[in-house]
Amino acid sequence: MTIGENMNTVLLTGFAGFIGSQLLRDLLGKGYTVIGVENMSEGSDKNNFSDQEYDVEYGENFYPILADISDPKLFDYLEALSVKIDYIISNAAQSHVDRSWGQYETFIKTNITGQVNLAEIALKHKVKKFVYVNTDEVFAGSPQPFNEDTVFSPKNIYSSTKASADMLLLNYLEAFKLPLVITHGANSYGPRQKEKIIPLSIEKITKGERIPLYKTPAQRMYLHVSDHSEGIILAMEKGVVGERYCLAPSMENELYTHELIELICKKMGKKYSDFVDEVEDRLNYDLRYWMENKKAVKELGWNPSKNIEEEIESTIKWYRGV
Ligand SMILES: NC(=O)c1ccc[n+]([C@@H]2O[C@H](COP(=O)([O-])OP(=O)(O)OC[C@H]3O[C@@H](n4cnc5c(N)ncnc54)[C@H](O)[C@@H]3O)[C@@H](O)[C@H]2O)c1
Repeated sequence: MTIGENMNTVLLTGFAGFIGSQLLRDLLGKGYTVIGVENMSEGSDKNNFSDQEYDVEYGENFYPILADISDPKLFDYLEALSVKIDYIISNAAQSHVDRSWGQYETFIKTNITGQVNLAEIALKHKVKKFVYVNTDEVFAGSPQPFNEDTVFSPKNIYSSTKASADMLLLNYLEAFKLPLVITHGANSYGPRQKEKIIPLSIEKITKGERIPLYKTPAQRMYLHVSDHSEGIILAMEKGVVGERYCLAPSMENELYTHELIELICKKMGKKYSDFVDEVEDRLNYDLRYWMENKKAVKELGWNPSKNIEEEIESTIKWYRGV
């Protein structure tokens, strides 16, 4: 039997990470067969796809492969599985901005070489769509609100590698008709995230430790991971080849970082001033990602409904295991 005979098979990369593990749940929940590719590096956690709250029956519909997306043998591994892929969601990335300065080789290998390798596989499998999960950070230098026409101006190695892959994939779209659809997600939060400001703050407050806060105030739009995942899947199902879609929450989800930490402290019954230490800004610190979502709402029927003020409570509970 060929896996994927049902014409609904998705190759999902990075399924053990934060957004990938949400995508895995949501795709299986919608009846897709998922071939997962993961190398269990930064951001991954095996509990993300085997924990007890994982209530989707994934046995027959989920085929995990432990491999690197930049490995030229990945195509052969898929052949050995006898799999027919209908869609690719290219989600895996090295995504930690601070680490990207010191580890540029790993970032280039995964975020650039890996994407081209996946594009080659997509062409061999004649997939219906290739969804590239890009970020709002590629627009960082724009003084205007970002939208699908904003010119890229990335300011660190992470976002520059994401922008580079975007351009290479556009070459594949134009030269070889790669059925490319691109999403630009906003800063995401929710369960199963590692290292970023929300899990870090909850952990520090729980342990009675202080949270490092960059001294220049910066704003971020906070998009719940389930809304982000829904937008990516809608882009796969309804997105027009050659188009990009900005996945931002509504404006009330934009907060300064100190407002976010204040909110977490308040929800955890703690005093903000007891937990925060100002530190020097990170290199090339991006102060604001302000993105519009009109196109995704109108053309994909996307409805990002979750509000950070309400959702932060369940997020805190998840990290505290209560
Ligand atoms: N987290 C956000 O706020 C956010 C916002 C917009 C876009 N994005 C994009 O979403 C995607 C997922 O981000 P995330 O926050 O879930 O990251 P993450 O670090 O939590 O997960 C990334 C996953 O990819 C895997 N991976 C990394 N390199 C790999 C390789 N070479 N081969 C196979 N697997 C590999 C990791 O092991 C990990 O499980 C990325 O493409 C990122 O650019 C993230």
